[in-house]
Amino acid sequence: MKKTPNHVAIILDGNGRWAEKRNKKRSFGHKEGFETLKKLSQYILNSEVSVLSVYAFSTENFKRSEEEVSFLMNLFIEKFTKEFEYYQKENIKVVFSGRETNLSKDVLKAMNKIQSMTKNNTLGTLNICLNYGSNYEIIDACNNIIKDNVDEVTIESFNKYLYQDLPMIDLLIRTGKEKRLSNFMLYQAAYAEIFFLDTLFPDFDSKEYEKVLEDYKKRDRRFGGINYEKKNN
Ligand code: FPP
Repeated sequence: MKKTPNHVAIILDGNGRWAEKRNKKRSFGHKEGFETLKKLSQYILNSEVSVLSVYAFSTENFKRSEEEVSFLMNLFIEKFTKEFEYYQKENIKVVFSGRETNLSKDVLKAMNKIQSMTKNNTLGTLNICLNYGSNYEIIDACNNIIKDNVDEVTIESFNKYLYQDLPMIDLLIRTGKEKRLSNFMLYQAAYAEIFFLDTLFPDFDSKEYEKVLEDYKKRDRRFGGINYEKKNN
């Protein structure tokens, strides 16, 4: 079995605390978080990983202060508008998962721009979960299945109703100390190997990712079965 993960997912947690520790506004942490994400996505997709999914904004994140939500929305607009050239140069395809409701026209326009500019890129896929919640993803899929008058679903056909038709997650990393999944890709994470790191996201780098990868490769992935090579009775 292939030891390198095919689909890596990261819950980008700890930007706010990273900034507060430096007596800066939380927005400073989000800005730095984007720079970390830029470097990491390039690094990870240049290995054998074909999909990197990241949690940039949950459906619940709208509960944050107006100032923080508006900062993040403007950051999305700025980065998706200006940085598409970088993803183009790196041959990375950018796609999104999440609901369009509650996102402004300008955010949607910026998302469409980077998505269409990078759609033919082949190095790997960066799936940005924005205004994303697993419960909504599953409910939206079910409602679309009903609309299509489908009699029976299979695993393959159900996948096509999810926001993106992606392989199952192999390796899921959450930075920032908390040990929960926070409504992130619960269906796709069914057999993911999960790592919870204390590191705050802006400090997460390729060196630490390599350490996680080393541990991941040692894990015995059985998918509910038995590893007959290891078992001797
Ligand atoms: C959670 O950390 C992080 C977020 C809600 C935002 C993550 C966004 C980025 C890293 C920027 C991505 C940018 C683009 C353009 C994709 P937190 O702020 O909740 O941290 P805390 O728990 O320390 O408060």
